[in-house]
Amino acid sequence: MDLTPTLERIAERVRPHLAEGKVAGYIPALARVDPQRFGIAVVSVDGRVSTAGDARVPFSVQSISKVFTLTLALDKVGSELWTRIGREPSGSAFNSIVQLEREGGIPRNPFINAGAIAVTDVLLEGRPPQAVIDEILAFLRRRADDPAVAIDEEVARSEADTGHRNYSLAHFLASFGRLRNPVDSALSVYFHQCALAMTCVQLARAGLFLAAAGHDPLSGERVVAPERARRINALMLTCGHYDASGDVAFRIGLPGKSGVGGGILAVVPKRAAIAVWSPGLNANGNSHAGTIALEMLAAEMGWSVF
Ligand code: DON
Repeated sequence: MDLTPTLERIAERVRPHLAEGKVAGYIPALARVDPQRFGIAVVSVDGRVSTAGDARVPFSVQSISKVFTLTLALDKVGSELWTRIGREPSGSAFNSIVQLEREGGIPRNPFINAGAIAVTDVLLEGRPPQAVIDEILAFLRRRADDPAVAIDEEVARSEADTGHRNYSLAHFLASFGRLRNPVDSALSVYFHQCALAMTCVQLARAGLFLAAAGHDPLSGERVVAPERARRINALMLTCGHYDASGDVAFRIGLPGKSGVGGGILAVVPKRAAIAVWSPGLNANGNSHAGTIALEMLAAEMGWSVF
């Protein structure tokens, strides 16, 4: 089904909300993005691509990258990952440090920053950070079926220059003996994965395997086993929007992962992957208009996992 008219209508309806959000200001390279941008793309399991607005403009995917690094880490170490990282919603902000100390350096889940840094440590396996950055980039290019996916080095530098909280989280992990690689190596990978620049079309295409039981329906590749895809989706639903995950499950009812660049990747099992981008964020650090657009789309299509 061609969803273009539906998406165009939604783009029109969310326009008044674009100015209500606040662009992430703590990373200078992100603070410069035009808050009036809005893009949305739906890639269905039968390969149909529907878009509206700035769906082909690259933006900083930020924490959405955590879905893909989790996928790679599970491929490397399987369920052993869960001895190092939990699977519970944190109920806290993405960069909160308090819980990590209280819980002995075991991050609540792989989507908060501490968890994502622990995931990069798993991916490193003693290798130099560049080898892992190359691996992540190659994975995303393959999943998006587009060699144009790139890392924005300016954003990566900006992340490192302002990443005091992430340094603190990584040093906390190290102080509990939870990192096997140097703090700087884990953070170098983390800052670069956050700086991946992708369009809504590329992102939805890259997440399609999660809508198709772990198999890429367009290339025919098996990316992960069906039960692993189900579990990644479960984590996205319960932890993908930090302390707003419950509200997003209530309003949208689909697994999703947000990033402070204003992007959200959402999964409609057996049907489609959706990527939406609007840089203005709500108080929880999730895209304000992007969340509203997903709510409209899910309601209009009757899409929900419930
Ligand atoms: O760790 C950070 O500060 C960011 N580069 C990424 C965080 C992020 O996207 C959180 N998501 N909403």
